[in-house]
Amino acid sequence: MTEAILLVGGKGTRLRPLTVHTPKPMVPAAGVPFLSHQLARAREAGVEHIVFATSYLAEVFEPYFGDGSALGLHLEYVTEEEPLGTGGAIRNAAERLTGAPGDPVLVFNGDILTGLDIRALVDTHTGSGADVSLHLTRVEDPRAFGLVPTDPTGRVTAFLEKPQTPEEIVTDQINAGAYVFDRAVIDAIPTGRPVSVERETFPGLLRDGAHLQGMVDSTYWLDLGTPQAFVRGSADLVLGRAPSPAVPGRCGDSLVLDGADVAPDAKLAGGTVVGPGAVVGAGARIDGSAILDGAVVEPGARIVDSLVGARARIGARTVVRDAVVGDGAVVGADNELRCGVRVWCDARIPDASVRFSSDQ
Ligand code: GDD
Ligand code: MG
Repeated sequence: MTEAILLVGGKGTRLRPLTVHTPKPMVPAAGVPFLSHQLARAREAGVEHIVFATSYLAEVFEPYFGDGSALGLHLEYVTEEEPLGTGGAIRNAAERLTGAPGDPVLVFNGDILTGLDIRALVDTHTGSGADVSLHLTRVEDPRAFGLVPTDPTGRVTAFLEKPQTPEEIVTDQINAGAYVFDRAVIDAIPTGRPVSVERETFPGLLRDGAHLQGMVDSTYWLDLGTPQAFVRGSADLVLGRAPSPAVPGRCGDSLVLDGADVAPDAKLAGGTVVGPGAVVGAGARIDGSAILDGAVVEPGARIVDSLVGARARIGARTVVRDAVVGDGAVVGADNELRCGVRVWCDARIPDASVRFSSDQ
């Protein structure tokens, strides 16, 4: 049996206001809480027992996923009173694992959308005899990630979390947020205080001569930590570019969930998802966006690469581009929201009061 720990305790600050009422892994992507995709992929790869390491808004996970039997999984939940950091969370959650000392333990960051071949990572781990094996991916700008240079055999030579200086940018290979740990390595993580696996455990292991093995691949990979990335990830799931058995419908240009009401002449494209109970009015055009449950898009509105929160309202003819509108916010008619603007939950923007382009 393969066991896994899912790290879902982060505050998701960069995703606010989406994460004000909802922890990042529970924000809907392609119509279901993002975690549904990760859980379904893990199940598909033969993982059977998953321990959630929760902290921020910990209480929302269990009511939704329960004991996991509906997903063919055995799920358990462990909550940190005070966040223990990624390493502390792994150590804490490992108390619920039932495997033998030599069994591999999968660990996943809870905000990664990827086509990773999970079995291949486990096989790399077993085959190389490493203490820890890490999924690595290449990105254009690695500064927001953990840099992981490797030697020609894939053995990790350093781990540089969030490099600050140009000299530290020694590779474009980054930690992709999926690991296989030898159980003994987890048991050696200190208890009772916060520990960062990236800043403390991995560098410490390397200093002590431990074997960390990297597996680089070029499959789909996205960290959904920012609003732009989240919206992109949701659209890629709908379009079928990001593989997930949990998309609730057939992949294509758009996905309209049961109970949504979309006017016949509204245009949905680019991986747009319209959640249950949402309403899209006549002539509205929505591209590459996520309209969450119960939101209302009034006639003639234009929404591009944006997320409209649950029960939020976008007024007639309003343009929303590269923006996030929080749950319950009301944006009046004839506004123009652009360029990464984030409207807070329940905020009110009167008609014709925000513009970017010239007024004519
Ligand atoms: N339980 C628990 N407790 N979980 C936590 C805690 C904590 O104290 N802190 C963070 N997490 C969880 C988050 O919920 C998330 O799923 C995961 O750990 C990683 O935290 P992020 O806050 O998303 O980190 P990041 O994206 O800046 O960086 C991490 O991911 C990158 C890849 O996306 C690091 O692992 C980087 O090295 C990596 O490149
Ligand atoms: Mg992240």
